[in-house]
Amino acid sequence: MGLLDGRTALVTGASSGIGAATALALAAEGAAVAIAARRTDRLDVLQGRLDKSIAIELDVTDEAACRNAVARTQGELGGLDILVNNAGVMLLGPILDADTEDWRRMLNTNVLGLMYMTHAALPRMLDEGRGDIVNVSSVAGRIARLGSGGYNASKWAVNAFSESLRQEVTARGVRISLVEPGAVATELTDHITHEGTRSLVKSTIAQTTPLQAEDIARAIVYVVSQPPYVAINEVLIRPTDQER
Ligand SMILES: NC(=O)c1ccc[n+]([C@@H]2O[C@H](COP(=O)([O-])OP(=O)(O)OC[C@H]3O[C@@H](n4cnc5c(N)ncnc54)[C@H](OP(=O)(O)O)[C@@H]3O)[C@@H](O)[C@H]2O)c1
Repeated sequence: MGLLDGRTALVTGASSGIGAATALALAAEGAAVAIAARRTDRLDVLQGRLDKSIAIELDVTDEAACRNAVARTQGELGGLDILVNNAGVMLLGPILDADTEDWRRMLNTNVLGLMYMTHAALPRMLDEGRGDIVNVSSVAGRIARLGSGGYNASKWAVNAFSESLRQEVTARGVRISLVEPGAVATELTDHITHEGTRSLVKSTIAQTTPLQAEDIARAIVYVVSQPPYVAINEVLIRPTDQER
């Protein structure tokens, strides 16, 4: 018996890192999982490791595509009990020197994408009086840092939206949870466009023992496998040697 037998989940940003590990961890506990991202070749490989699953090509910045991803999951897997809003980009760099396209990408993906997915998934969860929405935020949603202004703004928005939503729906049985990782060894830093920042961040992380994607996936399974009356609202997870 798995902890999540009979449950259905949709994980955004499942083509790598935390999303891929979370899809595997949810499936290992018996959930049927929809995996969504833009890189379908990666999803196809991951799907080969999952029993009951569907793969959905999804750009979360496209609201209609988000609605379609939720509808497909509900139609093809028979429901949507657990939504993991994980898709994100971390385009760090100074504010003064910023390519403002990086800001648009972060806000459209990390904030609006998460809001579109949530808006699409909520009505049926509320009708059923149960469901889990797990929003993957960051330590950067709680502590601002020099060189992280745009990313901080996006994750701060995720935290504010999540808490407001929690107050709106929790008494109706839908649990809203924030998972806030510190440094995790994934490809996230590879996509930083500001060259000086990319090499600085990579060398800083190389001096630490970062978390693995599976560490975050384990926390997400913990959050969604609690009894219905227990809501884990927030989980902040840093590597032991990360001071801030
Ligand atoms: N790694 C860390 O240190 C760390 C720390 C704190 C928080 N986080 C958060 O954890 C989440 C996952 O990051 P990760 O570390 O696992 O990095 P990752 O390996 O780069 O994964 C990011 C995922 O987001 C997807 N994605 C990006 N833009 C998308 C879009 N427009 N539409 C749909 N999917 C999109 C990517 O898939 P495609 O490119 O295939 O679409 C990819 O699967 C992010 O929200 C990140 O902010 C990470």
